[in-house]
Amino acid sequence: MRLMVTGGAGFIGSAVVRQAIADGHHVLNVDKLTYAANPENVASVAGHERYRFAQNDICDQPAMAALLDAFRPDTVMHLAAETHVDRSIDGPRAFIDTNIIGTYCLLEAARGYIEDSAAPVGFRFHHISTDEVYGSLGPTGAFTETSPYHPNSPYSAAKASSDMLARAWAETFGVPVVITNCSNNYGSHQFPEKLIPVVIINALEGKDIPVYGKGDNVRDWLHVSDHADALLLVAQQGAHGETYNIGGRAERTNLELVKMVCAILDEELTEARAGPHETLIKYVEDRPGHDHRYAINCDKIERDLGWAPSITIEDGMRQTVRWYLDNKDWWTKIRARGFDVTARQGLK
Ligand code: NAD
Ligand code: DAU
Repeated sequence: MRLMVTGGAGFIGSAVVRQAIADGHHVLNVDKLTYAANPENVASVAGHERYRFAQNDICDQPAMAALLDAFRPDTVMHLAAETHVDRSIDGPRAFIDTNIIGTYCLLEAARGYIEDSAAPVGFRFHHISTDEVYGSLGPTGAFTETSPYHPNSPYSAAKASSDMLARAWAETFGVPVVITNCSNNYGSHQFPEKLIPVVIINALEGKDIPVYGKGDNVRDWLHVSDHADALLLVAQQGAHGETYNIGGRAERTNLELVKMVCAILDEELTEARAGPHETLIKYVEDRPGHDHRYAINCDKIERDLGWAPSITIEDGMRQTVRWYLDNKDWWTKIRARGFDVTARQGLK
């Protein structure tokens, strides 16, 4: 396939790009290279003859149209977004611009690509979204593809808006859209402001590990390479107009997860220290509007496309911890760009 991947220098996008090249596809990675991007995430494929990169903003509709025209993809996999909930609370505007206007521009460019008869037969627009659009669950149940939308943060509201635009462009203009909504991802190359890398890096540096509120919020965790596999499957075999939920069937409270990471670090690091890493846990002020629980029912993708998560959270989390231990260069360079999550949270 010829895949135009937006946001391919970020965490999940780069996993998709690396897997797509390994699978034999041609890839055009379109990324603005915001603070969250890292060209090193795709360094392993950068010289490949089937890989191209374009530094562009998805809000630049003429640029998107020109890229579609020149590259002639079979599929657009749209991952580019502002993604960090805390940042959406500190400054929502970029989320409105990229997640809503950017998606609109890309959909319009795709519509032009189809209407000019340049798009190949079977062209599809795969819009990649999140479980956060469904809002927060009580103690039981799980989100299905027909759960009502109930976004609670500026991030999830902007993603929900983009899902609605994708739906409308399919219904009204016949853009062949397929949507996926996934739960929390973890794995290598995740920007160090999200929970798992924050825990690993702070623990390594002997800094406080910030747990919001009581740490009893629940997330459903999926290894990023399982997500990348699911996305590439949906991009090829997902039915037009359909939505597929993707999840890990691995619900954990934040505190359980943080303690799991700390216990792995206790085992992996042999040098003497004052006590177990979990003694660094510090309860901090809760996130405003913090969704209590997410859980994904992924029966549909399992039944219709034969996908299932393949990496257990125990194995995946150990691999992830090892990756951050073995790739200190990757995150110390990000730190050197002036980024420090502990400063934002008033921790030592
Ligand atoms: P990320 O923040 O790691 O990367 C986002 C990428 O998008 C970056 O490379 C950035 O430079 C690029 N980008 C941002 N604005 C852009 C713009 N205007 N034009 C072009 N490129 C731009 O994100 P991620 O965690 O890899 O998430 C990727 C997608 O998956 C997002 O759409 C997100 O909503 C969705 N998602 C993420 C998770 C998760 O747990 N991380 C779970 C479900 C769904
Ligand atoms: O559910 C999918 C979503 O998962 C994606 O759509 C988002 O792009 C992605 O960022 C992620 O959102 P979360 O808000 O769930 O992820 P985050 O890593 O920021 O936080 C995970 C949980 O941990 C959440 O309940 C908040 C909490 N948390 C987070 C940080 C950064 C802490 O307790 N301490 C922290 O320092």
